[in-house]
Amino acid sequence: KTIESLGDLRGKRVLVRSDLNVPLDGTRITDDGRVRASVPTLKALLDAGARVIVVAHLGRPKGAPEEKYSLRPVVSRLSELLGTEVKFATDTVGESAQETVASLADGEIALLENVRFNAGETSKDEAERRAFAEQLAALADAYVSDGFGVVHRKQASVYDVAQLLPAAAGSLVRNEVESLRKVTDDPERPFVVILGGAKVADKLGVIENLLTKADRIIIGGGMAYTFLKAQGHEIGKSLLDAEQVDTVKGYMETAEKNGVELVLPVDTVVAAEFSADAESEVVPSTQIPADKEGLDIGPKTAELFASKIADAKTLFWNGPMGVFEFEKFAEGTRAVAEAVASCEGFTVIGGGDSAAAIRNLGFDESRYSHISTGGGASLELIEGKELPGIAVLEEGTK
Ligand code: 3PG
Repeated sequence: KTIESLGDLRGKRVLVRSDLNVPLDGTRITDDGRVRASVPTLKALLDAGARVIVVAHLGRPKGAPEEKYSLRPVVSRLSELLGTEVKFATDTVGESAQETVASLADGEIALLENVRFNAGETSKDEAERRAFAEQLAALADAYVSDGFGVVHRKQASVYDVAQLLPAAAGSLVRNEVESLRKVTDDPERPFVVILGGAKVADKLGVIENLLTKADRIIIGGGMAYTFLKAQGHEIGKSLLDAEQVDTVKGYMETAEKNGVELVLPVDTVVAAEFSADAESEVVPSTQIPADKEGLDIGPKTAELFASKIADAKTLFWNGPMGVFEFEKFAEGTRAVAEAVASCEGFTVIGGGDSAAAIRNLGFDESRYSHISTGGGASLELIEGKELPGIAVLEEGTK
């Protein structure tokens, strides 16, 4: 259901679950992508005359207030982007929230303090979660789910509250689901997938699902070393997920059997230590010195990957190719970002880190077909899993 299905919203209190989980350096937002992505739905609701109540989380506090996880630093950026004052409640369902909501006039907006400061939000105990969802629901007349980054979480503000109020999906959630389903449901071929980032374990389900769908899987970043190890190569002090070596061997066999081309790095930028100014050199990926660790793909790999990206008709990229936060080890990620930007197919960037990398490296976002705001959520969609926050909205529709 769209927000239009909620009827005339003038004067109605609308609770919107947004994903404002942005990276902070102290109180400075280092990537405001998620705040910007939240704006269209909020604007539409304000224009419709609703009294908008935004509920969101930041980080992973343990069910109690912690200053470093306060959403307060987000208020001014959100106000700036919306061009209107955003009121702030210092709790989520308590006195401050109730007073703030009561003070809203039509077309005004408030942000509630981090929803994860309440144990009920993430509780595994259904009754405790439900009780908290009821307190959230009591603040509003309708609910809009627009935090795509959290739709894979069965949490009170994402899942339970949608069963308690008339509920609809905001435009961000709709666009995200549409773009990501376009990738997996019937991709135009060649369908190329680029996976990077540190942990193989996070990507197992995705790889497994893609081994029956993709034409080509390119592996870079920290997870590539587990693949190189599985091929029997020395990887020195590079990241290794020892528990996954056998699983990865199995993937390589399945890829071969299914005719999926698996592309691994051929050279690697290595250093003796993990630091921004570490002395580095380029070595073949099959000969990483025992006392060094790989921190980026090398220039030959960047060229190889670019050539494997160029003809894609559908492309999904998740995870950086190296430690892009250190300028010295950002070249591989930069080269892949450029290759994907130049690709004429339908290109989707999934995930917090790769999306942040693109913006921080200064790439124009309009050169990509879709940049997801979800990390885990976009991966789980690609994995073919049912996402509780989406399912609950679809159930409502039935
Ligand atoms: C994210 O950063 O991927 C989302 O905001 C979800 O956060 P979580 O993984 O802590 O639930």
